[in-house]
Amino acid sequence: MSFKRTHTCGQLTKSDTGERVTLNGWVDTRRDLGGVIFIDLRDRYGLTQVVFSPQDDAEAHKIADQLRSEFVISVSGVVKERDEININPKMTTGEIEVRVDQLNILSKADTPPFEIKDDIKTNEEVRLKYRYLDLRRPELQQKLMLRSKTYQAVRDYYYENDFAEVETPVLMKSTPEGARDYLVPSRVNPGKFFALPQSPQTYKQLLMVSGMDRYFQIVKCFRDEDLRADRQPEFTQIDVEMSFVDEEDIYNHTEAMISKVLEVTIGKKVTPPFPRMSYQDAMETYGSDKPDTRFDLKFVDFSKIVAKSEFRVFSKTVSDGGAVVGFVVPGLGTLGRGIMDRLTKRVQEEIGAGGLIYIKNNSEEIYSSVSKFVSEETTKDMVDSSHANEGDLILILAGQKPKVFQQLGDLRLMVAKEYELIDESKTDLLWVTDFPLLEYDDEDGRYYAMHHPFTSPKEEDLESLESDPGQVRARAYDLVMNGHEIGGGSIRIHRADVQQRMFRALGIDEEEAEAKFGFLLDAFRYGAPPHGGIALGLDRLVMLLAGAKNLREVIAFPKNQKAQSMMDNSPDVVDDEQLKELHIQLKPGLKQQLS
Ligand code: AMO
Repeated sequence: MSFKRTHTCGQLTKSDTGERVTLNGWVDTRRDLGGVIFIDLRDRYGLTQVVFSPQDDAEAHKIADQLRSEFVISVSGVVKERDEININPKMTTGEIEVRVDQLNILSKADTPPFEIKDDIKTNEEVRLKYRYLDLRRPELQQKLMLRSKTYQAVRDYYYENDFAEVETPVLMKSTPEGARDYLVPSRVNPGKFFALPQSPQTYKQLLMVSGMDRYFQIVKCFRDEDLRADRQPEFTQIDVEMSFVDEEDIYNHTEAMISKVLEVTIGKKVTPPFPRMSYQDAMETYGSDKPDTRFDLKFVDFSKIVAKSEFRVFSKTVSDGGAVVGFVVPGLGTLGRGIMDRLTKRVQEEIGAGGLIYIKNNSEEIYSSVSKFVSEETTKDMVDSSHANEGDLILILAGQKPKVFQQLGDLRLMVAKEYELIDESKTDLLWVTDFPLLEYDDEDGRYYAMHHPFTSPKEEDLESLESDPGQVRARAYDLVMNGHEIGGGSIRIHRADVQQRMFRALGIDEEEAEAKFGFLLDAFRYGAPPHGGIALGLDRLVMLLAGAKNLREVIAFPKNQKAQSMMDNSPDVVDDEQLKELHIQLKPGLKQQLS
């Protein structure tokens, strides 16, 4: 008896009535009604009700009695219309059932460790351990299908536009993208290590030197950094590089590609060009370099108004070069004291600000939480300059820049989430531009590249690279979607002399530059075209397309918060023999701890 299916479980409709069919799939649910067994049979495409009745076939009915959840079966029978009262309009196959006369159990199943149903509350660690079972849930399957459609739309776009897909090595020399490398020891080169790519940055630049002109790749990247909801140690980039281009070319192609992906995958239309905002404006208006512009709550700077205030928290902050900033929350002027106290506590504990100051602009009175220290006149000036309406609440922080902007940015997000001010139906895309080239690290007492060391400074700022490095702006850009950084890139340095100056600004001397990037500097000596590119976080993009809150929902086999795979228990200890071959010895005592 052939078990091979003639149709999938999401396919049969009324028009197939009377046809003899074979279906394969998993037993989803089972009901016994008056000696008749009803099974919902499941595969990736959907569910079909199959019916075993002693009248149709006594033998099949008898075997069906053994069926339990998650058994894999093959059934053959005839498609019948369901009785009127049994029609399920929610299912594509809801108008029919298959009356089975042949049943073949292809595989039995133990009772699964959790019920395989959407919207069930099972501990996530357990679900990750049995990920292959969790992936049977329609919701996760749809997300993987969405991801698959995304790959296809991305590839279609770049192929249609003359980009060449090129694979770059996974075993490579370390490329600095700001995180720690995952290292791979070399057996045949004792004491030496490969790094897994944090990104294929150097390779794609070398491909431009080789004349490939337009490159793209959907590529795995690896970064050993602290995990968050939108960070995985192993993630996928849509990586792009182009020759003879400026920022506008990168914007145009990226906007067209993203528009296509949104349309093909979720039927959403967005219209390029996407808005642009400088890094400085983003920080001073939204307190974030990835502002969520689906809601307003723009910042108001009160520093000038309060510079001479009797209240020292205000005046001293301003005279020390800091800022007093806030935003208006429409309609929340009636929040009670208890709620405001709780919000203040959260601001201190979760955001790390010293305190929260607020003004309630109500018709009967303007209430200020610092009315004891700040004159009525100043408070009134603050209300006026913020354009708060009656019934609005003004939240204010005082502190040093740029920290106070970031803290207010965190508060803006906190309030928007708490009071559901975010329009989740919106898809907001924008470019953040004009990033600083370098970032000073107080602890290390040196500059670091804000993007990476191959990013070109703006031509007009180049002369300050040595005299005032902190003021130099980069030809770098990020693409932001709904408050998430979904991409970042830059126009690169293509001249060896500028690259040397950049390394010097980063405190990398010639010897170190030669050891780390000699191959790239060499390449630039043999005719490098001006070039630039971008990389988009594919996982983040799919997460947003799917309306998911965590990258784990759109990655087939993700890592947990501790960068472990619960399913195969990796990372794991290895044999002494393997370590010996790799010329590696564990720290004394570590082995005992692990066993
Ligand atoms: P960048 O470091 O900005 O740029 O990375 C590009 C995009 O990759 C995504 N991303 C991540 N997604 C999930 N988990 C992570 N740990 C993670 N880290 C980054 C983000 C980010 O915007 N070589 C440059 C690109 C270039 O200059 O062309 C680069 O990698 O969405």
